[in-house]
Amino acid sequence: MNPPQLVDPFRRPISYLRVSVTDRCDFRCVYCMSEHMTFLPKRELLTLEELDRLCTAFVDLGVRKIRITGGEPLVRRGILDFMRHFARHLDSGRLDELTVTTNGSQLRRFATQLFDLGMRRVNVSLDTLDAVKFARVTRWGRLPQVLDGIDAALEAGLRVKINTVALKEFNEDELFTLVNWCHQRDMDITFIEVMPMGDIAEQDRIGQYWSLEDLRTRLSAIYSLTDLAERSGGPARYVRVDETGQKIGFITPLSHNFCESCNRVRLTCKGELFMCLGQEDSADLRKPLRSYPDSDEPLVAAIRGAIARKPKGHDFDYSRQTVAGTMTRHMSHTGG
Ligand code: GTP
Ligand code: 5AD
Ligand code: SF4
Repeated sequence: MNPPQLVDPFRRPISYLRVSVTDRCDFRCVYCMSEHMTFLPKRELLTLEELDRLCTAFVDLGVRKIRITGGEPLVRRGILDFMRHFARHLDSGRLDELTVTTNGSQLRRFATQLFDLGMRRVNVSLDTLDAVKFARVTRWGRLPQVLDGIDAALEAGLRVKINTVALKEFNEDELFTLVNWCHQRDMDITFIEVMPMGDIAEQDRIGQYWSLEDLRTRLSAIYSLTDLAERSGGPARYVRVDETGQKIGFITPLSHNFCESCNRVRLTCKGELFMCLGQEDSADLRKPLRSYPDSDEPLVAAIRGAIARKPKGHDFDYSRQTVAGTMTRHMSHTGG
């Protein structure tokens, strides 16, 4: 008999697990990491076998969608083998989707293998199509490599969604360029409001918040937008551009809170479970995992205990003069 599904205190069913498989990344995006990061020593990381056991426990508890994130998930050694093995849950029909959020740098190498293991969609982060600005915002990234990775994903038959963080005075002028570029490639695009995570003070002007309400108003000046009811199980709300049929998503943690329909929790690479992206509380799942190699019962109890503490939502707020609800944790810790 299947155990009852995970439901939090606000009656939200938890069906989506985001798994950060590494805190490392080959980029250093200004809103995500500081330039000089200290990464976890290897012994702190869950092994790939431990990750498999832990994620399988979530599937047993009714999770239907798993997104592999990082840092940059595709830089973790062995991650393709992990996903290939984990894809058995797709084959069995217990999991609806296994997917990844990536910076695109490794897609040329891995895209075909991702498709072959059963993945159908990937989300790629891309804030600008200007090589100089790209190098500025990612610090270590190179645009041609990412564009080539995106091509590789499309060639492999993967659907690609572009995630663009909306940054004032940085990519405002590229709004239509980005939207058109995605449309030409039959890719969806989602804009994200920048959240106050990590070393806010250290960021230069690139870190500035650009409200998606304003972004949307600018789009509406050129296009007719129709709100869509559809949900991908994520926080994005979509519109269709009537003129072209293109789908555009908005993730608005600041201007419009979507926490009431939150269906996800986040696992970090060392086995902490974060019940909310914007709160500090977490549960240590590595301990029950390692202490009881032969029984999942303590692990399942820890998961249930954690879900019972899932908070109502985050406290990010730019509406007053100062930024409230700021998190000192870097985004790379929980994978966004
Ligand atoms: P799909 O809807 O399946 O395409 O994915 P998604 O939007 O859930 O995943 P994706 O990795 O593309 O998420 C994009 C970004 O949205 C994340 O990196 C975060 O910055 C933000 N985000 C995702 N989930 C949450 C959430 O629960 N709360 C907040 N505040 N932001 C989130
Ligand atoms: N605010 C909003 N989005 C962020 N991301 C990383 N840091 C932040 C932040 N502070 C996004 C990346 C990528 C995803 C993994 O998280 O651009 O799309
Ligand atoms: Fe790396 Fe993504 Fe963070 Fe950029 S946003 S530093 S690509 S994890």
